[in-house]
Amino acid sequence: MKKLVISSGAGISAESGISTFRDAGGLWEKYPVMEVASHDGFLKNPALIHKFYNERRKQLVTCKPNFAHIGLHQLEERFDVRVITQNIDDLHERAGSKNVLHLHGELMKVRSLKHEDRVYTLTSDNLETSVDTRDEYGDPVRPHIVFFQEDVPNFTKATELAKEADIFVVIGTSLNVYPAASLLYYVKPGTPVYYIDPRPAPIPEGTAVHVLPMKATEGVQWLIDNLKE
Ligand code: APR
Repeated sequence: MKKLVISSGAGISAESGISTFRDAGGLWEKYPVMEVASHDGFLKNPALIHKFYNERRKQLVTCKPNFAHIGLHQLEERFDVRVITQNIDDLHERAGSKNVLHLHGELMKVRSLKHEDRVYTLTSDNLETSVDTRDEYGDPVRPHIVFFQEDVPNFTKATELAKEADIFVVIGTSLNVYPAASLLYYVKPGTPVYYIDPRPAPIPEGTAVHVLPMKATEGVQWLIDNLKE
């Protein structure tokens, strides 16, 4: 089976009702990103950051996967699909995708501040954390999110997936944030690359990318109708 590697951003969850970051009315218009999503911000005011992610978890549990997430799962019948996502929501997983690699962490998970390999999954009836939350060892926890100013631990693995791709598809990202935005340059020469976004970011000259200026749900339908095994 051909390896179909997907690199998704906030745009794939827009039609599920989750706001993107940089579109009009996006999250970073409402919240100062360095206060609610950066390493320094967490050191300065952890209570605010716990509150910010509690709010986002409460919204996430009311949302469900849209056809873009579901269609990618359907493509698993015909391709070896690997999803690399910048998103922290769990909509790819909830749509049934088997292989999902999160570059920027996972909203429904928190981890020990003392032992970062101790990761805990929250549930819809246990969504909130605070500076007073303690894990079973009595240690404080933090969102299992890659804050700005922190390394992206899964990036090397993501580049390996990109290098193995027979087809590479970028969906719903403004290609603003590195290193995620550089993934499409890791593909083998000659690998077909598609970019699905209704307002696509400019792609540097000479990069062979097929831009599909459409919403994620329409773009995934296009993949289903047009990709050849
Ligand atoms: N379908 C597809 N794409 C869409 C849709 C849609 N229905 N609606 C909006 N988009 C596109 C926008 O045109 C834009 O290109 O989604 C993209 C969203 O861009 P951003 O808001 O910048 O989100 P993203 O690229 O995922 O941000 C990357 O920045 O703040 C950090 O960690 C955060 O992972 C995030 C990273």
